[in-house]
Amino acid sequence: MRCLAARVNYKTLIIICALFTLITVLLWNRCSSNTSLRFLPRAALVAPSPRVGDSSISSQQQPPQPPEPPPVVGGSKFEEIDCLINDEVNIKCRRAGGEIYMPFGWMEKYFEVYGKVAQYDGYDRFEFQHSYSKVYTQREPYHPDGVFMSFEGYNVEVRDRVKCISGVEGVPLSTQWGPQGYFYAIQIAQYGLSHYSKNLTERPPHVESYDTAEERDGRAAAAPWSVPKGCSLSRVHDKSRATSVRQFSAQESSEGVSLQLGNSKDFILSLDIKFTNGSVSVVLETTEKGPPFVIHYVTSTQLIAFKDRDVTYGIGPRTGWSTLTRDLLTDLRKGVGLSNTKAVKATKIMPRRVVRLVLHGRGFVDNVTISTTAHMAAFFAASDWLLRNQDERGGWPIMVTRKLGEGFRLEPGWYSAMAQGQAMSTLVRAYLFTKDQAYLNAALKAVGPYKVPSAQHGVKAVFMNKYDWYEEYPTTPSSFVLNGFIYSLLGLFDLTETAGEKLGREARQLFSHGMESLKAMLPLFDTGSGSIYDLRHFMLGTAPNLARWDYHTTHINQLQLLASIDSSPIFRDVVKRWKNYLKGIRAKHN
Ligand SMILES: *[C@@H]1O[C@H](CO)[C@@H](O)[C@H](O)[C@H]1NC(C)=O
Ligand SMILES: *[C@@H]1O[C@H](CO)[C@@H](O)[C@H](O)[C@H]1NC(C)=O
Ligand SMILES: *[C@@H]1O[C@H](CO)[C@@H](O)[C@H](O)[C@H]1NC(C)=O
Repeated sequence: MRCLAARVNYKTLIIICALFTLITVLLWNRCSSNTSLRFLPRAALVAPSPRVGDSSISSQQQPPQPPEPPPVVGGSKFEEIDCLINDEVNIKCRRAGGEIYMPFGWMEKYFEVYGKVAQYDGYDRFEFQHSYSKVYTQREPYHPDGVFMSFEGYNVEVRDRVKCISGVEGVPLSTQWGPQGYFYAIQIAQYGLSHYSKNLTERPPHVESYDTAEERDGRAAAAPWSVPKGCSLSRVHDKSRATSVRQFSAQESSEGVSLQLGNSKDFILSLDIKFTNGSVSVVLETTEKGPPFVIHYVTSTQLIAFKDRDVTYGIGPRTGWSTLTRDLLTDLRKGVGLSNTKAVKATKIMPRRVVRLVLHGRGFVDNVTISTTAHMAAFFAASDWLLRNQDERGGWPIMVTRKLGEGFRLEPGWYSAMAQGQAMSTLVRAYLFTKDQAYLNAALKAVGPYKVPSAQHGVKAVFMNKYDWYEEYPTTPSSFVLNGFIYSLLGLFDLTETAGEKLGREARQLFSHGMESLKAMLPLFDTGSGSIYDLRHFMLGTAPNLARWDYHTTHINQLQLLASIDSSPIFRDVVKRWKNYLKGIRAKHN
């Protein structure tokens, strides 16, 4: 029985095998005939080589040219057809049945729209967009200690018009309007607000502590310091900080006192430092072949230098205790990309590993850490810069000449309502976080220039003798830049909400006048298919200065925010209509 069963199975198996092979061969052929079309080179799909003897197209009209037979793609036929554009130029299009296809390369320019072929689930797919910019969603009603608009998505320091983060000031240096670089209050406030917003929206950083002199679980003694001959390192008590710290001494010509770090995940270095004089250097393995790069932080006021593999930042004398927090990735890339032009050169270099820290000169050090992020350090660097640099009128004068196009020119020393407002939003948050009155006082003082007309070194304009407006660019004649005005209102709002009835009275008045103007004048910025950046078409009688898409979305983001604190229907309605413009849905015509 068993034998028989085995024999039957044997025969069945052979049959099954034969059938299987047959089916496989059949399916294989089928598959390949299907895929042959799908995987044709794209050029072949678009413009196939002419096939001799194909007569399905009439080619009598253009006898000198080789006949262009219709390509067969998925069963439909495309033939070439001339297309006359606006009675002026001819372009080649395609016809298939009753439909005409125009080249996207032409449409893109003509309609200013956007499209690209993208891989999607392994297939190519063409993605078309009317605009290139996206609106963010207002998560919850705006409040003065919350995320600032959509600034958690801003990354000020990577912009190529940021020369570097100054070691002395701890804030970005802008080269937007000149290669020499200058501290631009708007950019500094945005640096602060973006890091503040990231602190609220991101996951807490990983923090690796490498050395703390104060004895904790006996870890202090174990830190892997190396002290070459002639150098010294000792643990001493610091009275002012009431804690143990490390005292170091290493001649400039020596190898220096060094601490092994070996971190290949995170790149934000932080340490408490107090110098007689000297430097902190960080040895970095990077994506470049060859010896490591070294970033030197020296007790000078030099901004930045780069030579061979050494990047140098001055950090000021630092003769009292201070915390030095540096983003090594940014510091490396700004150093390698250093240039004499307005833009930092693009570079592919990335840090791979923080190898070690090297100290030269004489001083004290404590609390060496490396972390994923240090957003609050950046936020307070910006807040404190604003405190230190506010002038007696409450303003942050901008020390560059600004030409806003024909007819608008600002000489160095001008104030900007946008700078004032963004600074207020920063300072109010610093106050709410620390309860340090100095920040609130500075924010209150920043109201000053709002009350002074542009022509008298303030930022106030009046539209048609009726509506108060705070000018991002206080030009004469006035320019009425929309986004800068709204930022100036947000600063006033933050201050009004924070300062209380009495201290905040002035800000409240300025805010409510400003909102009145905004509600009355917003329609002047609406083209029916987009928005307008300023009112130069009205003030100078020139063509309207249409807002490009990213400014249009900024307008929408700002109005969404206002809609969350003011229930007037105008904000809701305009947001809805202006969002539609992003998809090509225009206002109705008559
Ligand atoms: C935000 O700041 C707080 C206070 O400094 C800190 O404890 C927290 O880890 C920070 N979170 C992020 C995501 O930076
Ligand atoms: C410290 O200062 C002295 C004199 O001012 C200078 O000669 C020396 O090079 C400095 N040392 C370091 C490490 O910068
Ligand atoms: C080091 O950090 C500890 C804990 O935060 C702090 O108490 C101490 O003052 C810091 N050391 C210095 C020198 O600032």
